[in-house]
Amino acid sequence: MATNDLFQGAFEKKPFDNSELINKRRVINGYDDGLMQVSPLKHPWAQEIFNIMIKNTWVPQEVPMQKDVDMWNDPKALTENERRVYERSLAFVSNLDGLQTNNLACNIIRHITSPEVVLAIARQTYEEALHVHSYATMVEALALDPEAIYGLYRKDQDLYEKNQTVLRAVSKISDPTFKTGSFSDDQLFLEACVSNVILEGIYFYSAFLIFYVLRRNNKMPGSAEMIQFINRDEDMHLRLFTHIVNTIRQEQPELWNEEFQSRLIQNVKDAVEMEFAWGAACVREGILGLTQEALREYLQFVGDMRLVALGLPKQWNSQNPFPWIDEYTQGNMIEVNFFEGTVREYQTGTLEW
Ligand SMILES: [Fe+2]
Ligand SMILES: [Fe+2]
Repeated sequence: MATNDLFQGAFEKKPFDNSELINKRRVINGYDDGLMQVSPLKHPWAQEIFNIMIKNTWVPQEVPMQKDVDMWNDPKALTENERRVYERSLAFVSNLDGLQTNNLACNIIRHITSPEVVLAIARQTYEEALHVHSYATMVEALALDPEAIYGLYRKDQDLYEKNQTVLRAVSKISDPTFKTGSFSDDQLFLEACVSNVILEGIYFYSAFLIFYVLRRNNKMPGSAEMIQFINRDEDMHLRLFTHIVNTIRQEQPELWNEEFQSRLIQNVKDAVEMEFAWGAACVREGILGLTQEALREYLQFVGDMRLVALGLPKQWNSQNPFPWIDEYTQGNMIEVNFFEGTVREYQTGTLEW
């Protein structure tokens, strides 16, 4: 929501008609009184995404974790390497969702001037908080040492540097005096939105993959189910930010020049490389058939998908080495019906007393 001075002066009669209102509405730099007049809609995709998000409502307490607890407590159920990879993956995704909760609330939402887009980002912010809560549920269920997960970055240089890179990318607009409205600041905001696409659509992916690889080998099924719910939410976040980027680009086409596009492509390439380096440090010589080579190919495939969604050229043309992953990540790898998988569909709107 943008702030403005509409209520600073004395009342002055100034009615709008609907077309005027719609013509003045933009994702950023539009007219906005901050009172969330969603209707009439200018950006119907935001409401569509918001409605799907509501339909996807879930809570981590409903995911059964007992099998995971039994496996974690059974010294023979998981190897040392599998435990290490599990903990590192959990550490990174929990840091990432924590950082994203704050990023949306503090850096992004205040510059958005389309109330329907604000609504969707507000819901996304809640979902990121729910994800933080989900990881806490996993940590508590398995009785893991919280410092070994949340604070891993304090003793692991790889994780410290990964968090640092992600934070730097999404925080380009975190100066409280930052404002959209000039060419360079609007480009900076748009770049920060692409960093969100990268965060939602690339940075989670080696960790998600690791949980699914474990699940495919009948290990830690509750954790994988939790990740599936989270992945389903992230899928919507990715869709939301892809729309935000593409709509700002339509509304202010001058921002999307050649030099800017090269910068974005480079950001995606750097992200794929960094995600690979992190994933490779996790899987080392391989875990349950997951090799470094396949991981690289997979992340390149994912990176290409994100570029194509933003109307940018593919950089790798790699194939997905894990076609089975669609069973777990419905919707993100190819367009398939998410609800045909094992993840349950929650219906809200029914109150149980
Ligand atoms: Fe999240
Ligand atoms: Fe997200």
